[in-house]
Amino acid sequence: MTNHRIALIPGDGIGTEVLPPAQQVLDTVGRRHGFTFSCTSYDDWSCERYLREGAMMPADGLDQLRDKDAVLLGAVGRPDVPDHVSLWGLLIPIRRGFRQYVNLRPVRVFEGIDSPVRGATAGEVDFVVVRENVEGEYSEIGGRLHRGFPEEAAVQESVFTRAGVTRVLDYAFGLAASRGGRLTSATKSNGIVHTLPFWDELVAERGAAHPGVVWDQEHIDALAAKFVLEPARFDVVVGSNLFGDILSDLAAAVAGSIGIAPAANLNPEREFPSMFEPVHGSAPDIAGRGIANPLGAIWSAALMLDHLGHPAAARDVTDAIAAVLAKTDVRTPDLGGTATTAEFTEALLELL
Ligand code: NAD
Ligand code: IPM
Ligand code: MN
Repeated sequence: MTNHRIALIPGDGIGTEVLPPAQQVLDTVGRRHGFTFSCTSYDDWSCERYLREGAMMPADGLDQLRDKDAVLLGAVGRPDVPDHVSLWGLLIPIRRGFRQYVNLRPVRVFEGIDSPVRGATAGEVDFVVVRENVEGEYSEIGGRLHRGFPEEAAVQESVFTRAGVTRVLDYAFGLAASRGGRLTSATKSNGIVHTLPFWDELVAERGAAHPGVVWDQEHIDALAAKFVLEPARFDVVVGSNLFGDILSDLAAAVAGSIGIAPAANLNPEREFPSMFEPVHGSAPDIAGRGIANPLGAIWSAALMLDHLGHPAAARDVTDAIAAVLAKTDVRTPDLGGTATTAEFTEALLELL
């Protein structure tokens, strides 16, 4: 029987509340489809560990993950630890150290979801944000100058490399070719002089190499408005690290709640494990109450199943998500209900 080695990193806040439901779902579909998981749980890779030992994970953390088939992560971040410490100490080193340069973030309005956007209906809104995940605006180049003086300043360089942009564009064009054949590139070449005109040139170049895909580009400000005004027109949307980050939370809200949105941090060449995690963070405002929406983590687990070569099992999971929303009125508070995480998970498992 196929066995997959999975690293579980619950992290902080609701990260620790949404991973167990995802595990329950994985075990259930694994039994049905005839494969198993050996999970190693890294429970203390978290802000608590940072406060105790000064590091979010051990110095050889990446080496401990290297032989795994995939990583499933909850979320990291806590109000008493600066975010740049928690994120640059755990999440971002994994994305970069394992060359997870594609961040795939599907968006779907499910039947039974009340989108805040008028006209955003099930079956019509179904697209994917492909976010560049290891360079762009998230760069280590820059610094804080003249701390404590009136001329104090902060500088950060954006880094867009030909190789880095080309590979994520090729992934996005390839994905578009396998879906609806349409791609939209997020840009801001009207206001940014160096990086995004270069991005646009590379989009045109890769577009010419993928003649089967019809592509266009939108400035990020106008694109944000179109996500709200006409979300049904998108198929694949590709953007830089920061643009993709912002667009994916916006898209999640259009689809009803950030609590549903999943993400796959992919190393398409499979040199290293890929990492699957909900789009949302550790939500300190609701953590510890047992009311977090587990669907983002569960859908992320489905993306992991796809990546591991189990598309039928992945479809069972997304079908169960669709069914619990369409056929029941069990919902967590972010979706207007009163169910707990455990009750919502139970309702979903019954339909799986
Ligand atoms: P957040 O996603 O944690 O929360 C934003 C809002 O959405 C909150 O009101 C929260 O209650 C709600 N929300 C999020 N997920 C939900 C769910 N599953 N069910 C119901 N409601 C949900 O974003 P934030 O407030 O900007 O960040 C909080 C912390 O999380 C920060 O420390 C941040 O750096 C961190 N963060 C981590 C990750 C990650 O680990 N991948 C991602 C984003 C933010
Ligand atoms: C996400 C998060 C992270 C990001 C933060 C927490 C560093 O917002 O995964 O979307 O910006 O990549
Ligand atoms: Mn984000």
